[in-house]
Amino acid sequence: MPLTYLPIMAKNKITIVGAGNVGATTAFIAATKQLGEIVLIDIVEGLAEGKALDIAEAAPVELYNAHITGTRDWEKTANSDIVIITSGLARKPGMSRDDLLAKNVQIVKSVSEQVKKYSPDSTVIVVCNPLDAMVYTAAKVTGFAKNKIMGMAGALDSARFNYFLASELNVSVQDIQGVLMGGHGDDMVPLPRFTTVSGIPIGDLLEQDKIDKLIDRARNGGIEIVNLMGTSAFYAPAAGAVKMAQAIIQDKKTVLSCCAYCDSEYNAGGYFVGVPAILGAHGIEKIIELDLNKNETTQFEKSLGHVKELALKVDGLLS
Ligand code: 2OP
Repeated sequence: MPLTYLPIMAKNKITIVGAGNVGATTAFIAATKQLGEIVLIDIVEGLAEGKALDIAEAAPVELYNAHITGTRDWEKTANSDIVIITSGLARKPGMSRDDLLAKNVQIVKSVSEQVKKYSPDSTVIVVCNPLDAMVYTAAKVTGFAKNKIMGMAGALDSARFNYFLASELNVSVQDIQGVLMGGHGDDMVPLPRFTTVSGIPIGDLLEQDKIDKLIDRARNGGIEIVNLMGTSAFYAPAAGAVKMAQAIIQDKKTVLSCCAYCDSEYNAGGYFVGVPAILGAHGIEKIIELDLNKNETTQFEKSLGHVKELALKVDGLLS
C-alpha cells in the first residue's frame, strides 16, 4: 500500500441528510478525511446513490479509503454517531434566509423524526436555513440533550471573516483567529476586539474603517455568493460542517463559534444562538462567555431578539 494512504480512523457512522450541493460536498470532504462510515440520504431517487458512488470512485485517485453509501432508506442510517442535516430549500437571489422558514421547518421536522427513531444517541449538526430556527426545530422534534444538538454557522461566518482579513493583510489564513457571535443572519456579530493575527489584535494592523468594511462583507457573505451564482454557497458551509463533525469524532476540544443552546449564558433565556464553544466527544462541552462591552452586548441582544422571533414562528408552525 502506498505510504500516502491515510490510516483508517475509528469506525464512526456519519449520516448526511440531503444529497444536494451542501450535503454531497460535506460527504466528499468527510470521505477524504476518512472520518468514518458515511451514509448519504436523500428523498430523490438515485441522487444520493449516484453521488456516493461518484465519491467512492474518486477514492482511488485521491487515495482515501471511502466507506460511503447512498440511499433513500432511513434504516441504513441506523445507529449513526453523527447526523448532519443539510436538506431544505436554498436561497435564490432576492430571498433572505428567513424566507425559507415555513418550507424548511416542515422538512427539518420530518427529518428529525427519522433521526430520533433511527439514531436516538446521535449528535446532530444542522446546516440548513434559517439556521438558528432550524436547530430549534430539530431540538424540539428530537428532544435530544441540548449539548448534542447544534448548528453550523459560526464556522462559516468566521471562515469568511478570516479569509477577508487574510486577503486584506496579505497573511496566511492559518494565522487569523476571528471570533463571531449571534444568529446566522444580517445582524450576526463579528468581534474584532477578540480577533487576532497570530495573537496580534487586528486593531493594531488595520484602520477601523477597513475593519468595518470587512465586517460588512462577512455579514453579507452568504448573499454575495447567492447573487453571483444564483444559489447558496456550499464549499465553505460543507467545510464548516465537517470541521464540527471532526471535532466531535476526534474529541478535539476545538474552540469555535457554533449555534448552541444558551440559557443563563449571555442571558439568552433558553435559545439556540451562535456563541464561542468547546466542541468535543460530548458535543457542545462548554460555552465560552466573553466579557462583551456595551456596544457588543447591544449588537448581540439585537441578533438574539431576531433569533427568538423566528423561534416563536417555529412554535406556531409546529403546533
Ligand atoms: C451562507 O451563508 C448558506 O447560509 C449559508 O452561505
